[in-house]
Amino acid sequence: MCGIVGYISRDADKRSIDIGIEALKRLEYRGYDSAGLALFEPSGRILCQRAVGRISSLEKKINGNGFLTGDPIILHTRWATHGNVCEANAHPHSDCTGNIFVVHNGIIENYLALKEQLAGEGHLFSSGTDSEVIAHLIEKFFEGNLEEAVRKSLGCLAGTYGLAVISSDDPGKIVAARLSSPLLIGLAEDHFLLASDASAVISHTRKVVYLDDGEIAVINRDNFTIIREKKVEEIEWPEEQYQKDDFPHYMLKEIVEQPLSIEQTLMGRLIPEEGKAKLGGLDSVERRLREVDKVYIAGCGTARHAGLLGEYLFEEYAGIRTRCEAASEFRYRKTLLDDKTALLAISQSGETADTLAAIRDARARGVVTLGITNVVGSTQARETDAGVYTRCGPEIGVASTKAFTSQVTALVLFTLFLGRQRQLTVTTGQRIVSELLRLPSLVTRTLQCEMQMRLLAEKYQDFDNFLYLGRKYSYPIAREGAHKIKETAYVHAEGCRGGEPKHCELALISENFPSICIAPGDSVYEKMVSNIEEIKARRGPVIAITTEGNHELEGLADDVVYIPETIEPLTPILTIIPLQLFAYHFAVLRGCDIDKPRNLAKSVTVE
Ligand code: AGP
Repeated sequence: MCGIVGYISRDADKRSIDIGIEALKRLEYRGYDSAGLALFEPSGRILCQRAVGRISSLEKKINGNGFLTGDPIILHTRWATHGNVCEANAHPHSDCTGNIFVVHNGIIENYLALKEQLAGEGHLFSSGTDSEVIAHLIEKFFEGNLEEAVRKSLGCLAGTYGLAVISSDDPGKIVAARLSSPLLIGLAEDHFLLASDASAVISHTRKVVYLDDGEIAVINRDNFTIIREKKVEEIEWPEEQYQKDDFPHYMLKEIVEQPLSIEQTLMGRLIPEEGKAKLGGLDSVERRLREVDKVYIAGCGTARHAGLLGEYLFEEYAGIRTRCEAASEFRYRKTLLDDKTALLAISQSGETADTLAAIRDARARGVVTLGITNVVGSTQARETDAGVYTRCGPEIGVASTKAFTSQVTALVLFTLFLGRQRQLTVTTGQRIVSELLRLPSLVTRTLQCEMQMRLLAEKYQDFDNFLYLGRKYSYPIAREGAHKIKETAYVHAEGCRGGEPKHCELALISENFPSICIAPGDSVYEKMVSNIEEIKARRGPVIAITTEGNHELEGLADDVVYIPETIEPLTPILTIIPLQLFAYHFAVLRGCDIDKPRNLAKSVTVE
C-alpha cells in the first residue's frame, strides 16, 4: 500500500535523490502502482516528477530530465484508491501555484465536498484523487508559515492521513502529520528521514521517533519539533534481517526461516514444570483476564486464519467461548460485548486499518483489548491494552508465511496462559509445553518436503482450480492454503471444511479439479478419509497431507505428503508448510511476481 519518504540533510547535500529513491525502494514490498517525488533544486524551485509503474520508471524519467539534486525531498509510492492508475493521480500533488507539494497515505472521506467548495473558490484540480484537496487547502490557508497552514487544513479533513508537505514559499523544512496512518522520523547522523515504514530508514539509523495520531512534525535541517515531547526508540530488527540473502524471493526465505522464527516466538516464554506460558505483555491485565468468559478475535486475511485456529484452541483447552470475526465486519455487526469480553486483534503489521478499527470500537465499548503483532511500536501495539509480540523478524513478502506460523504459536501460548488460569490441568499444560519445545525441529523436518512440493507444483501446474479441505484444526489451514495459492499464483482455490463439499462443492469435482486434503492423524482423521473417498468416487485428483507412518492414504490419494507426528493443536503449524511451498513453486512456474503479487499490498492501511 502507499509509501511515504521524506529527506532533509544538515548541509543541503547532493545525495537527496539517491537516498530518497533507495528508501522508497525499501517500501516496494508494500505494493504500489505508481511513484513520484518533489524536491528543492539548489535554485530554490521545487521540481516534481511522477511515473506509472515501478520506481525504475520514475528513475528513468529523472535521469532523462537531468534533475539537479537538492533537498528537502518528498517521495511516494501510490496504491490507487480514488482515481485510476495514471500519472496525474500519482503523488506528489500540488496546489494551483505549483509552490506546495503533498504526499499522502490514507483516505480523505469528505474530499468531494471539499473539492466542490475549493473549486467554487477558484482552485483548479488536475487529478481524480482525494489527496489533491490537501494541497489546495494548504494553499488557501498559507500566510507565510507552512506548519500553520497544514494545521488549519487538517482541521477541515475527515478520514485518515499520513502526509508530508514542502513549499518553496517556506523552504528548508518538511511538515508531516499523522492520523491513523503510520509515520516515523529516522534520526541519522547528518540527516532526517521521514517514512511510513521503518524498513525505509533502517540502512541509515535505528533511532526513530514515531508520530502519534493528531501530531504534526516540523523537520528542519538540524532539528525537528513535534507538539508533544517524544521518546527516542530503537528499531528492533537489524538491517541484515531485511536482506534477501541468496534466496530468489523473500517468500522462500521466510518459509525456510520458520524454525528460527517460531523459536523466537517461544523464547523465554515457557515454564515446562508448571505447564504454563509466561507472557510479560499480559501482566498488566492478568487479573482482568481471569474474569473474561468470551473472546472475540479480529484479523484480516492470513491473520484471520490464525484467529480461526484460536477459536478451536481457546474453546478446547481454555474453555472460553471464542469467535473469530473478519475485522472488516467487526464494528458493523451488532456484536454483543460486555465487561467479561476480551477482544484479541491479530496482525503482522499492526497497521491494518480494519483491525485497528475493531480495536477502537471495542475499546470505546469498555472491552479489554489484546493484540498479537510482529511490529514493535506499531499502532496496534500502542493502542491495545496488552499483548504478545510474535518476534518473527521483518516479513517482506506480501504473502504471509512465517508471520502466520508465529501467530499460531503465539495463540498456543495465549491458550496455555488462559487455560492454566482456568480448567487446563498441569499434565495437559506440560504435554503442550514439551511439544512446543520440539516444534522448531519438527518444522525443520517438515521443510524437507520442498523438493516433493516443487515436483507436485510441476505435475499440477496446468490446473486452474483447487479445492482445499480440512476438518477441525485443519479447516483454517485449508483456507490459508487456498489463500496462499490464490494470492501468489492467481489461480482460483477454495478452502472448505471436509464435511461440507457434499452440500455443494462436490458439484465442481471432476478429473480437472484437484483437491488438497489435509488429513493428519488426529481426532477427525477417519472422517476426513471418508471425505477423500467421496472425492475419489467422482474422479477428482487428490493430494493428501498426512502424518509420517500412516501409509493408508497411498492407496487412495494420487499423491501423499508426510508431516512429522505431533499433538493435534500443533498440527496446523506443520501442515501449512507444504501448502506454502506448493503455492510458492506453483507461482514461480507461472512466472508470477512472487513477493509483490498484482493488486495487493503488504500493509492494508485503508478500509
Ligand atoms: C497474507 O498472505 C495476505 N497478504 C493478507 O491477507 C494479510 O494477511 C492481511 O492483509 C492482514 O495483514 P496484517 O497481518 O498485517 O494485519
